[in-house]
Amino acid sequence: MEKTIKVFAPATVSNVGCGFDTLGFALNEPGDIVILKKNNLNKIKVTKITGDKGAISKKMEENTASMAVKHLLSKLNDSIGIDIEIRKKMPLSSGLGSSAASAVAAVFAANKLLNNPFSKNELLEFALLGEKVASKAIHADNVAPCLFGGFILVRDYNPADIVELNYPRNMYCTVLYPQLKINTSEARKLIKKNLQLTKARRHFGNIGALVAGLNNSDYELIGKSIVDEISEPFRSKLIPGYFDIKNAALTAGAIACNISGSGPSIFAFSKNQKEANKIGAEMMLALKKKNIQGKVYISKINPNGPKVIG
Ligand code: HSE
Repeated sequence: MEKTIKVFAPATVSNVGCGFDTLGFALNEPGDIVILKKNNLNKIKVTKITGDKGAISKKMEENTASMAVKHLLSKLNDSIGIDIEIRKKMPLSSGLGSSAASAVAAVFAANKLLNNPFSKNELLEFALLGEKVASKAIHADNVAPCLFGGFILVRDYNPADIVELNYPRNMYCTVLYPQLKINTSEARKLIKKNLQLTKARRHFGNIGALVAGLNNSDYELIGKSIVDEISEPFRSKLIPGYFDIKNAALTAGAIACNISGSGPSIFAFSKNQKEANKIGAEMMLALKKKNIQGKVYISKINPNGPKVIG
């Protein structure tokens, strides 16, 4: 039988308040599953996609997973063919890095299938080029934490230079996914191209403080540093009841609460699972008041990133 490989790659929360395109972390769930198999056609083929209600293109050039694999194979100068099956296990256009998860799972699986010719840093570049198909821009704050696991700071781009941050191992993340769709490339158009110096200064301060807070498990510092003057003022308008949901999370004891990536998902940190559950229930109640369905995910930060599951 032909060798196949099945990989799970996790959802991610990006931006994390003060770190637009700069900060992100991986969750334990949800995530995507991608199955790769060599074929004899000398072509990369997306053979099957499930869980997407027909929303994702199977065309090679329009799919984040196949484009990521294409960049990997081009670098090897290899013309082998690969069949790709994608099982979407997470909502699309949800702000949880769905397209990044498929791209990361695909390059991670392809690398394993070919006996690991590339390092994770090299895989990062391929996955970023794949993910670009969806977001129409290179931003590594979903792809990097998905691939490396943990909490990641993207120090620079071209090439992506990432820093793996220390963080409190017992911190919980509650994610509320309101059943709405926000297209990342559209949501990026809402962001102002220039940032006033005083706002930029507050962001530098908050990023530094958040990294220190994460390193020292200083929950108070983490809480006060998760402030977003770049994206939240504009993107919150796309999420009905956003500030009520945020207030509900903070009143229920959340350390911090903000938009996950370009939304509509909203994340909140807490110190233990009991608080994380309570925060999720309160966020959901606030969402229901707007007559919007939703789902809550509760997870610690996932230290591992993708894993081979078959
Ligand atoms: N940093 C990206 C953005 C994340 O905010 O547009 C998209 O999920």
